Formats: sequence, C-alpha cells, structure tokens
Amino acid sequence: MKVLLVGNGGRESALAWKIAQSSKLTHLYVSPGNAGTNQFGLNLNYKDFEIEKLLDFAINNQIDLTVIGPEIPLDLGIVDLFQSHGLKIFGPSKICAQIESSKSFAKKIMQKRNIPTASSKFFSNPNDAYDYVTKFSGPLVVKADGLAAGKGVYVCADQSEAKNAIKEIMEQKIFGSSGESILIEEMLTGWEASVFLFCDGNDVSSLIAACDHKRIGEGDIGPNTGGMGAFSPPLIWNDQIEANILENIVYPLIDEMKTNYDPYVGVLFIGLMINEEGPKVIEFNCRLGDPESQVILPLMESDIIDVMMSCINGEIEKNDVEWSSSSSVGVVLASGGYPKNYEIGFEIQGLENVDDLVNIFHAGSEVDSLEKIITSGGRVLTVNYVADTMDEAIKKCYENLDRIKFQDSYYRKDIGKLS
Ligand code: AMP
Ligand code: GLY
Repeated sequence: MKVLLVGNGGRESALAWKIAQSSKLTHLYVSPGNAGTNQFGLNLNYKDFEIEKLLDFAINNQIDLTVIGPEIPLDLGIVDLFQSHGLKIFGPSKICAQIESSKSFAKKIMQKRNIPTASSKFFSNPNDAYDYVTKFSGPLVVKADGLAAGKGVYVCADQSEAKNAIKEIMEQKIFGSSGESILIEEMLTGWEASVFLFCDGNDVSSLIAACDHKRIGEGDIGPNTGGMGAFSPPLIWNDQIEANILENIVYPLIDEMKTNYDPYVGVLFIGLMINEEGPKVIEFNCRLGDPESQVILPLMESDIIDVMMSCINGEIEKNDVEWSSSSSVGVVLASGGYPKNYEIGFEIQGLENVDDLVNIFHAGSEVDSLEKIITSGGRVLTVNYVADTMDEAIKKCYENLDRIKFQDSYYRKDIGKLS
C-alpha cells in the first residue's frame, strides 16, 4: 500500500517508524515530516493545514491510505474532504474532531451522557466570568474553548490567578478566536493518565495508557511544555480501571457520536484524572498524543496498517490491537531555554552510538546542506527504551540519552518516576 502520513512531530516520527514495519507497505510519504521521518519515507513540502494540496498529492499518486497525526487538519475537515473524493483516510470527521477542538461540544456530550468529568460553566462575556470566580476561594481551572496548541488551560490556585487567566484569554485574546468563550471548572485531583484506543465507529480496541510529564522542571515544576517525556503503563493501571473507562466513558461517547453526529472513526485519546471516585475526563483528543505515541507505539504488537484499515472498514475487534506487557519510557531531549527562547542550528552528535534496542524519534531536527543533523526546534528528539521492568527501561533510556549531545541540550532526569 502507498501511505501518506501527515504531520511533523515526534508523534509522526513514531508513526512513520511503526508504519514502516507493516507488511502491507510499499511506499511511505510524510508531509511535511522531519529528520526522523525521512529514515522511513519520503518527506514532502505540504504543511499539515494545506489540505487541498495534500488531496491533490493523494489523488495524483494513488495513495491507498492517508494517516493524520495532528488535530489541526482533522479540525479543518481533511477526513471529509478525502472521503468525498473516494479516498481512504484514518481519523475522525470534522464533526467528530470537535470533541477536541471545542471544549463546549465535549462538555455538552459528557453532561448529556453522564460521563464523569469536572463540573463546569461556560462564559462568553468576561464580566460574567469575573463575577463568577469571586464566589470561590479555592483553586479553579480556566480554559479557552477552542484549540490553543495545548496552552489554553490555566490551573489557578485562587481567584486572582483565575481573573488573570480570564483577562489573558478573553480580553488580551492571546489565543485569538479560540478564547472568545471560556470554561471555568472544578480542579480535579488524583493520578493523571492518557488513555488511547482505536475506534471503528461502533466498536473499539483494547486500551493502552501512558503518563506524560508536561512541566519543564524536575519534580513537575515550572511552565508547561509540549511534553518532556512519557512512560507506559502507569503504576495504577489495571483491568478494573479499563473496564470502568469502557463502560462509563468510551461506550456512551461512541454511541452519542454515532447516534447524533458521525460514527467516530480513528484514535480516541482520553485525558483522565483517576482517584478514589474512579476516572474522570479532563479532556478528549481526536488523535494520538505527543510524547505518548513515542512510548506506546513501541509496545504495539499488531500491524498498524491492519489496525487502521479495520477501523476504516468498521471491523475492529478488541483483540485486533495487541499491546506488549513490557514497560516503555521516552525522554525528550530539548533545546536549552525551551519552552521560552532557545537557539537552533546546533549539530546533534552521537546518534550512532546508541544501543540497537533504542528508538530515537526526531521532532525539532533537520538535515543541513552538509548532510549533518542539526537542531531546528524546542523539543528536538525523544529517546525511547522498552524493557521487562520500568526500572530497567529508565536506566537504559538515560544511559543511551547521555551518548547524544548538542550545545545547550536539556532533559529532565526524573521521567518515569511520577508517583
Ligand atoms: P489540557 O490542555 O486540557 O490537556 O489541560 C492541560 C493540563 O491541565 C492537563 O493535562 C491537566 O494536568 C490540567 N487540567 C486540566 N483540567 C483540569 C482540571 N479540571 N483539574 C485539574 N487539572 C486540570
Ligand atoms: N501529550 C498531550 C497531547 O498530546 O495533547
């Protein structure tokens, strides 16, 4: 099969690596891709939002399957566009993608179907929002309604922080039109986990869970990032939690989408907080996570093209997606200064010195005119290791990471040690 993969992050490097292992693959194109994806396929020049150009490429090159990594093209309706031309594409339709792109859409469905989540209220007028937060003395969470590249959520310790969040989102409009309305919600506490499943519109695969480390600093301090590392499985993960999530979250959501919108086809990513009361939804995403993909895809034992085609053809069964019971950890090597200002263009050395079992998934790197691999972004690459135990996976991951060097590189030394 000729496959087109859309996106350019660490997630897409991991997807390209996994797709390249499929017995079905003849050609892989990645658009726009990065210095990692070109080890597995041919990088193209179209950006993820250039959905008409991607369509022309798919038609002109007889692409058999298009796989979408990030949320932006899904929100733009790339799935509907490709399907209207008779092309096979893996991901949810524009209507279904709203479970990520509109927090109000997701919340309404959760309220209607009694899916456990934080209690919340919506505001489209900042004055009403300021009035509302004055009633609270404890912590609150303020969120922009629309897509904000993972930065639209403010976990506020008190009402003065909440007021500042309202001002930035609604008055200073730092997320543009994504902040025209906001959601103010109860702060949940417990264990946070990212849960993933493959869905064919009616049925779903088994679940896999991971945890990511969002903060820049060790001990989970400092500003949020796109993710500094991840590990799978979480310590608390068990069959009972999985059954609870399927019954109380997944099946009601899938049924609601099928009945009132479109059948949900693609990956469903559930951000959860788990405590004594059970799992509660923080958010839904309509795609795989980054950096979670870099730890879960190495645990997938099934052929990913088979899995995606089963979803598209409405034939997914629980056991179609098999996950290894090993432990997987991924540590992000970032440019010093990230997530604020950082320099790029430094040569990455030592990539050839890692053990055979190590996976290196590139994100912010590129090949320069002298064929050297240089840094080109904040999160440069993820180093992944899979082992029988989490302790072994962590040890080997860091041993290998230490062999990769570039100027001002930074990584957290406590990935996998969330407790
Ligand atoms: P999101 O962009 O929705 O993933 O939110 C970013 C992060 O904010 C989440 O991963 C959580 O750590 C935190 N968060 C969001 N909503 C809540 C909530 N209601 N209670 C506690 N933490 C939250
Ligand atoms: N790691 C969180 C996300 O991909 O949104």
